[in-house]
Amino acid sequence: MLTTWHQDLFAAVGRWRWLHALNDSVSAVTQPLYDRYRDNTAVELMHGGRWAGHALHPALSDLPIGLWSGAVVLDVLGKDVAANGSRVDPAGALSAAGLVAAAGAVATGVTDWSVSDGEDRRMGLFHGLLNLAGMALQGASLGARLTGHRGSARVLSATSLSVTLAASYFGGHLVLGRAAMVNRVAGFTGPSRWVRAMPEADLPENTPAGVDVEGRQVLLHRSNGELHALDNVCSHAAGLLSRGEVTDCVVTCPLHGSRFDLRTGQILRGPAQHPQPVLPTRVRNGWIEVRGSKPRSRGAPTKEDQHGMGSGS
Ligand code: FES
Repeated sequence: MLTTWHQDLFAAVGRWRWLHALNDSVSAVTQPLYDRYRDNTAVELMHGGRWAGHALHPALSDLPIGLWSGAVVLDVLGKDVAANGSRVDPAGALSAAGLVAAAGAVATGVTDWSVSDGEDRRMGLFHGLLNLAGMALQGASLGARLTGHRGSARVLSATSLSVTLAASYFGGHLVLGRAAMVNRVAGFTGPSRWVRAMPEADLPENTPAGVDVEGRQVLLHRSNGELHALDNVCSHAAGLLSRGEVTDCVVTCPLHGSRFDLRTGQILRGPAQHPQPVLPTRVRNGWIEVRGSKPRSRGAPTKEDQHGMGSGS
């Protein structure tokens, strides 16, 4: 019981039919909006994007928790009294700053939520609803402070923090338990030697192909005689890139539209925040062969490092 309650809790949330229905209704409104503005740089920045290399939302969501925790500590210590006749007491200042930070967390959270699917999306919606409830309670607490109802303000503040912490627990589960917005190709390194992936004659020009190479999903693509191989599993949320479109050596993920340069694996558009690993390729005896990417050497690149990165021989 002590070690399984959280699994039961997450399973129960996953079964709530009202959450399924609400998720469908909210998605019907928000998804067209996201799709319309997804190419906007501001939207990619809210994901964190290739510039930050990480999602912004988890970092921003720590701010209101810290600020509101400070308000509760001041309440408990009785240090929340306004000084010098100021209308806003110290705890009120922390409460208000937390609300501003929470607005940023909501904006980035909704943006990340718009590129989630299935159970992640429903769990994310529940996480968001709890956070909105926490914000509403905090807003009521601030209002009570401003009107001199100190006792109510303290109760509302503590309740707000409790609800927000519950929300953060579900948010933590999304990231740590379900790998939302984490690099899905971290740790993919094999195979450690050249391995046959596909007969050269079977790979059409300008058409991506997905192959399994000793358990690693690899995308192969050939254009103008140049051969490219990337991890086929999108670093954002594990969409299969070989099912996406390729234009001018740029592949678009079919799930949420991230774009990667097939020659370098670099991100040209998010929501992905981690580039796709590139695998060296070569052609031997009519077969396309690939081998795993190795951690980059600290010293000068060896001949082998330089050989075959994305080009056939
Ligand atoms: S899985 Fe989300 S962009 Fe590829």
